[in-house]
Amino acid sequence: MANDTKLAPHPLEPRQFRRTCSRFASGVTIISVVDSEGTAHGMTASSFTSVSLNPPLILVCVGSGARFLDAVNSAEHFGVNFLSETQRALSERFAGSGYDRFEGVAWDRGVTGVPLFPGVLGTLECALFRTFTAGDHEIVIGRVEHASWRDGEPLIHFGSQYRALESSPAWWSTI
Ligand SMILES: Cc1cc2nc3c(=O)[nH]c(=O)nc-3n(C[C@H](O)[C@H](O)[C@H](O)COP(=O)(O)O)c2cc1C
Repeated sequence: MANDTKLAPHPLEPRQFRRTCSRFASGVTIISVVDSEGTAHGMTASSFTSVSLNPPLILVCVGSGARFLDAVNSAEHFGVNFLSETQRALSERFAGSGYDRFEGVAWDRGVTGVPLFPGVLGTLECALFRTFTAGDHEIVIGRVEHASWRDGEPLIHFGSQYRALESSPAWWSTI
């Protein structure tokens, strides 16, 4: 092991856990639903993972305290939008609170009715398949019914910062 590797103490400190996990680069999604009253809900999530090809399953982990959880639990379908590198503001908007996240934001209904955003790199429309409680999050598994994609560059989240694929690797000076 390299000398500069930061070893986690035991028991694990939350900050050490968070900082270590932040070294795993991910894309950024907005997961979305329309509730039974026709109101759209959405939440920025980087915990997206594809799970199974046959059947086609994906998962996203949602904090147990998230308002979005009630909406997703009462919906038959939810959408996953893969953000492009130009959609950082959309990511911030759907992670914030104190306002209507959809106000003034362009979106369309997918085949299943879920909110999909123009300009994203990919969309998945999922039937709610199963949920599991895991610690302070819910693992939400969806069975993918429709999928679409286009070419483009992704929005990346790494080291607690937004990045683009070709940005300069200067993250260590900003944490
Ligand atoms: C880049 C990024 C990724 C995030 N990923 C997740 C995630 O995977 N799961 C999650 O529960 N919250 C995640 N969050 C935080 C939520 O977007 C935010 O706390 C959430 O919108 C609050 O939930 P609520 O508005 O439904 O109550 C992320 C935030 C950002 C900025």
